[in-house]
Amino acid sequence: MALLIDSIGELSTQHLTGEASPGSGEGAGVLRDAAVVLDGERIAWVGPARHAPAADERFDAGGRAVLPGWVDSHSHLVFAGDRTAEFEARMAGQAYAAGGIGVTMAATREASDAELRRLLSARLAEAVAGGTTYLETKTGYGLDVPHEVRSAVLAGEFVDEVTYLGAHLVPAGADAQEYTDLVCGEMLKAVLPHVRWADVFCERGAFSEEQSRRVLTACRDAGLGLRVHGNQLGPGPGVRLAVEFGAASVDHVNFLDEADVEALAGSWVHWTGPGGAPGQAGEAQDSLASQDSWASQDSLASQDAWASQDSLATAGTVATVLPACDLSTRAPLAPARRLLDAGVQVAIASNCNPGTSYTSSVAYCVTTAVLQMGLSVQEAVRAATFGGALALRRHAGVDADGQRAVGSIAVGHRADLQLLDAPSATHLAYRPGMPLTSAVWRAGRRVR
Ligand code: NIG
Repeated sequence: MALLIDSIGELSTQHLTGEASPGSGEGAGVLRDAAVVLDGERIAWVGPARHAPAADERFDAGGRAVLPGWVDSHSHLVFAGDRTAEFEARMAGQAYAAGGIGVTMAATREASDAELRRLLSARLAEAVAGGTTYLETKTGYGLDVPHEVRSAVLAGEFVDEVTYLGAHLVPAGADAQEYTDLVCGEMLKAVLPHVRWADVFCERGAFSEEQSRRVLTACRDAGLGLRVHGNQLGPGPGVRLAVEFGAASVDHVNFLDEADVEALAGSWVHWTGPGGAPGQAGEAQDSLASQDSWASQDSLASQDAWASQDSLATAGTVATVLPACDLSTRAPLAPARRLLDAGVQVAIASNCNPGTSYTSSVAYCVTTAVLQMGLSVQEAVRAATFGGALALRRHAGVDADGQRAVGSIAVGHRADLQLLDAPSATHLAYRPGMPLTSAVWRAGRRVR
C-alpha cells in the first residue's frame, strides 16, 4: 500500500549536501513544494510535488514542514523511581555527582518486570509523540548480572538499539577492580546476546582510564560496537580513548581541549559519506544540491551511491551532545559549534534518564542547540536525525539483517518521518517549547 504525502511546504531531507544560502532559511537538503511516497516500510520516491506519482492513498501536508523522525542515539530508559530531591538540591547549587545512579539502581532492581515494561512503554510513547522514530537505550541501572540482563532484554522489547552499560558505576560496597572484572567477564557474556553496543562511563568517580580501557577491550573483542560517556564532568581521557578504540560515538563532551577536538576531527578525514572526503561520494552529492537535479526518479535512485558500506567503514567517532543534560546539570554547554567547525560529525540526543536529563524531547534539544549552542536550524536538525543515525551506524545502506538506513529522507531508506504543524523547521527554534510535531510515520506506519 503506497502513501503519497504531498503539498510539503519544506522537506528537510538531510540527504543532500550543498551550501546553505544565508538568510534564506535553506540549508543542505532542504526542498520546497515537495512530495514523498512511502511504500510499506521504505521510502519509494522523493521529489517535486508537481512530478509526484500516483499512490493508493494521499496525505495532504498543507504546506507544512516534513523532516526525518528524530534518531535519539543516547537514552537510559530502563529505570524506576525518580530523583526530584537530587534535582532540587542541584537547582539550589549542589553539583551533579554520579552517585545518584546508585539511587536509581536500587529502585530499578526493586521494580517488577511488569512495572518496568509499563514504564518503558510510557516513555516510548512520549518519545514517539515528540517525533522520535529510532531510539537507542542503555542498561546501567541493574549493575549485577541478573539485573543487567533483565534491563537488556526488556529494553530490546521496546527500542531499536540496546547498549550494555554495566560500566555505569561501581555499586556501593563493591571493589572497583573486581566489579570491572565482572563487567568484562561474566556480566558481558550473559548480556551479549541481547545487545549491539557497549558503553563505559569514563569519568572521575565512575571508571578510570585503565578500567575503561579494559571494558572497551573486552567488549570490542566480544564483537560489540563501542560508545563512551566522556569528558562530562571535567577534562579527561574519554574522548581520546573513544577515538583510539574507533568508538562510534563519544557522548557529553563538555570539557574538551584542543587535542580532543583534533582527535575527533582526525577520525573523519577519510570518511566518504555526504560532506566527507571530496572527490568521492561528497562530490556526487554536490551535483544533487540543486532542486532540478532531483526531478528525475533515476537521479534519486543514484543518490544511494554514497549510501554504501564505504560510508560505514570510513566513519569516525561522532561527538554526541546532550543539551538537556547540560542545562539540567548546569554544566558548560558542549562546544557543538567548535566541533562542527573543526570537521567533526555531531549528533544531538536526549539522554533521557532520571538523574541528569528527565526528558525524551529531542525537539527541546534541537531548540537549545540553536538558541544556545550556535547551530543553525538545519545543522541542529541534521545532528538530531542523520547525526544520530551516524552515531548508531544506521545512516547508510541496508544491513544484512534487512535494517534500512534511518535519519534521512531518501529512496530506499526507512520511512521514518514527522510532520510539523509549521511551515518550516525554523519554527522549532522560533517557537521554543511548542509541541509542533503533529504526525509521525515509523517504518511507514502512522504512529501519531
Ligand atoms: O548520561 N553520565 C552518566 N550517565 C547518565 C546519568 C545517569 C544518572 O545520573 O542517573 C548521563 O548523564
